[in-house]
Amino acid sequence: MEPGKRLPGKIAIVTGGASGIGAETARTFALHGASVVLCDMQDDLGAGVAQEIVDAGGAAEYRTLDVTKEDQWIALVADVERKYGKIDILGNIAGISGRPANMTVQASGVMTGTGLAEQTLENWNRIMEVNSTGVFLGTKSVIPAMQRARGGSIINISSICGIVGSFANAAYHASKGAVRIFSKSAALQYAKDQIRVNSVHPGFVDTPMARPGLLGNESGKARMDATPLGRFGKPSDIALGCLYLASDDAAWVTGSELVIDGGMTAN
Ligand code: NAI
Repeated sequence: MEPGKRLPGKIAIVTGGASGIGAETARTFALHGASVVLCDMQDDLGAGVAQEIVDAGGAAEYRTLDVTKEDQWIALVADVERKYGKIDILGNIAGISGRPANMTVQASGVMTGTGLAEQTLENWNRIMEVNSTGVFLGTKSVIPAMQRARGGSIINISSICGIVGSFANAAYHASKGAVRIFSKSAALQYAKDQIRVNSVHPGFVDTPMARPGLLGNESGKARMDATPLGRFGKPSDIALGCLYLASDDAAWVTGSELVIDGGMTAN
């Protein structure tokens, strides 16, 4: 093993790899010696991240994937296993906030217009489909390949919203709570195959998804005030947690939840 590299020879699939936390996790895995297949629906951005990794001397390629489509997962996993011989790591990172257009932020930082009475069934279903069903489909699809590889690590991105509630967007909380407990059940079912499944729970991280609620408004101020370490997260703060869970350093870690939130939920 090259000194300091945590993932030499590993094959990783990372969803949501075109942007934010997923892109940074793809870069980090590649920096640590993994061959990374990063997937997303933003093709130009995703291809750009893969090219950037290759230019820096890493191994990466971009594939289009809608995480809500089972046939696309089946084709992806078959292709990756055929090409690379195995799959060691899956990072289920793709997600949406599903923030409704009618959301407003009061001076107190409390959000309105996202109450349950106003949430549409269509909005609820879409958030659940991407954030929860997408994680189920990814996990389901890679398990046979990981059984053939005699082990693997699946990292499911939940959120602090999967642990605590808030005034806003109950569907997002529900979708992330589902990821948390789904991960524990999957961990128990496949521990016998040395397939580890863990959830990661970021606090407020400055990414294209979160930025509208973080910068230049009352909501952002309230969230900063609620973050004991005094800054918003960077994608690398989360990517390094994913790196730990992906690596053999976490060989005895499964069914756990890694909270990376600047101390927010310690309150
Ligand atoms: P982002 O918006 O920068 O990245 C999300 C990526 O997922 C985008 O590239 C998007 O195209 C992709 N995506 C969305 N739907 C997809 C689908 N159906 N199929 C394939 N790809 C799809 O957002 P960010 O912040 O990097 O989010 C990554 C994950 O982290 C999400 O699951 C999010 O819920 C979670 N998270 C983010 C937090 C934050 O403060 N940024 C806090 C807690 C959790």
